[in-house]
Amino acid sequence: MFIHHLQLVHYRNYEQLELAFDNKINIFQGFNAQGKTNVLEAIYMVALAKSHRTSKEKELVQWGQSFSVIKADIEKKHGNLKLEMQLSNKGKKAKVNQLEQRKLSDYIGTLNIVMFAPEDLNLVKGNPQHRRRFIDIEIGQISPSYLYQLTQYQKVVQQRNNLLKDFRMDKKNKLEMLEIYNLQLIQYGTKVIKKRLGFLEKLNHWAKEIHFGITSQKEELEIRYQSSISKELMGLEDTEISELYEQKLLKVKEQELERGVSLVGPHRDDLDFYINRISVQSFGSQGQQRNTALSLKLAEIELIYEEVGEYPILLLDDVLSELDFQRQTQLIHTIRDKVQTFITTTSTESIDEETLMQSSLFYVEAGLIRRLN
Ligand SMILES: Nc1ncnc2c1ncn2[C@@H]1O[C@H](COP(=O)(O)OP(=O)(O)O)[C@@H](O)[C@H]1O
Ligand SMILES: [Mg+2]
Repeated sequence: MFIHHLQLVHYRNYEQLELAFDNKINIFQGFNAQGKTNVLEAIYMVALAKSHRTSKEKELVQWGQSFSVIKADIEKKHGNLKLEMQLSNKGKKAKVNQLEQRKLSDYIGTLNIVMFAPEDLNLVKGNPQHRRRFIDIEIGQISPSYLYQLTQYQKVVQQRNNLLKDFRMDKKNKLEMLEIYNLQLIQYGTKVIKKRLGFLEKLNHWAKEIHFGITSQKEELEIRYQSSISKELMGLEDTEISELYEQKLLKVKEQELERGVSLVGPHRDDLDFYINRISVQSFGSQGQQRNTALSLKLAEIELIYEEVGEYPILLLDDVLSELDFQRQTQLIHTIRDKVQTFITTTSTESIDEETLMQSSLFYVEAGLIRRLN
């Protein structure tokens, strides 16, 4: 996949922006708060219909304006496409070749993205929500049906929580309703878990290999799915997962009624990382945590290639300078000649000479961008 042209109207601090890209590696350089991340965010937005750093989409529209547009001309193996994302107080509108897309879940993933931002360095140690978001977004962009099932699941959790919250009155009716919600919860929840397990199996394969590379074959990385339903779910059939789910719901029923929330299921599950069978979350050094995050991101690139048949676009926000030389080399080696990459940095000093020579350089200043080479 390749972005040839990007156009922004009233997006963040960009009144109007038009950029053409003819290179695999594109570097945006500039001081802080000039609009570097905003460009990457716009690319992320036009691809995945969400921002990587906020869920308040109003913030994306330039102050004082009522709407915002992002357009990207992209090239894929089977032809060129024009993507467009419009934001206004009426919500989001996505278009492909000027045709409005009814279902965002079908639109998402037309352009695949892997983003590596400073907050991802916290992926391993940060809160579980961050890791669930990671896994949901990544599966979502290669599987529209996952997005559908996840949304359905989240709706049931919401309704079920509302029911659990005020249970006291009209108990009998509510118990019947709870049974119905349980069936739906298990139905969608099982599908979500099953997809996550399948994804992790593939991600594990790539992450392990890449992590070996980063650590000169010294560290074996493993990602495990930690479910609130049962200890080990990997390898189980749908029906077996559903059964365990049902049993667990029965076990926590009293507790759920008491606390008024849904306590088990994919919305409470997590990922665990192990290096040489020792938990990275508990015992990993900061370097190991960073490497793990990097391995995951690089693994995603390969996984998307495997699933979609094309390499995604890679967005590196302010992270290249965070990586030491060996890791930079590993990264550049992985993406070279294959993956169109957009990099932001305050200084090009930390980027190796050879990469710089092959890159297009852009200078970002107060919502204006000019090409330097
Ligand atoms: N909705 C908006 N309208 C106008 N300017 C905005 C909006 N949102 C953020 N900004 C501005 O964008 C700038 C931050 O851009 P950002 O891309 O995060 O900077 P950096 O170059 O450090 O990555 C700040 O100056 C901020 O005031
Ligand atoms: Mg930034």
